[in-house]
Amino acid sequence: MTAARRFAVIGDPVSHSLSPVMHNGWFKDYGLNAEYEALLLRSDDPVAAIRALKGYAGVNVTVPHKEAAAKAADRSAAEVANVLRWEADGTLSAYNTDGAGFIAALDEAAPHWRGHVKHALIVGAGGAALGIAQALSSDVARVTFINRTQSKAEALAETLPGADAAAWSDLARAFSEADLIVQCTTLGMTGQATHGWPVEACKPDAIISDIVYRPLKTDLLRAAKARGLTTMDGLGMLIHQGALAFELWFGIRPDAARARERLIQALNA
Ligand code: ATR
Repeated sequence: MTAARRFAVIGDPVSHSLSPVMHNGWFKDYGLNAEYEALLLRSDDPVAAIRALKGYAGVNVTVPHKEAAAKAADRSAAEVANVLRWEADGTLSAYNTDGAGFIAALDEAAPHWRGHVKHALIVGAGGAALGIAQALSSDVARVTFINRTQSKAEALAETLPGADAAAWSDLARAFSEADLIVQCTTLGMTGQATHGWPVEACKPDAIISDIVYRPLKTDLLRAAKARGLTTMDGLGMLIHQGALAFELWFGIRPDAARARERLIQALNA
């Protein structure tokens, strides 16, 4: 029997990652001789450390190694990469499926969003906020960043045509103007601070998305649901970025619904 093809998610920290549950589940679904692990990568030279992972057929990359992953590759489709694939000739290709994963999740949770969403509000100014804003920018006329540290929101807005920044003190007004709100900070995460989100200010047809998935029902999503708004939880993006990675490795678009069942089980365990 040939050896199993090896896959991993690399990051620091990484032990909390749900990617092994998701990908090993799909390997079973499709009868693939492959195994997937969480691999802590801590190095003074992450680019060299990533290039040395030649025993793997592919890896997912999480914080803080996404830039190093793009640099380590012989060819990269993006400046920050979350997927790597080693080719038959030993060279390394890098991709970013985060943005397309978010859009696929939005298509699933709010199929009417295209055309409806003219103005998106991105809460936060980290890597996730930028990736999602970039993915939305081709379909949405206006993107506003709002962040506790306003200078970071302004810096991101400058990188994106049609984007602007709002002050944290104007959160309620910003919520009232948006057709889509994407919560991209650590607020509401288990063990982190929560926030009194001004959901009562939202338009009645606003779509509310939170990228936090621990807990799955964040305070923001609970409040939005209670108001009858369309919501999208944090598993959607996780699953669809993973499904796109799986497709890059195996040429198969895997079953998102089965992954969701397994991940909910893992989150409740
Ligand atoms: P990423 O993983 O997306 O790269 P990050 O760079 O760690 O995330 O960013 C975390 C985000 O959560 C930031 O927007 C941060 O706001 P600041 O830029 O002001 O630090 C936000 N955040 C974290 N704790 C917060 C809090 N208590 N109140 C408001 N925003 C908070």
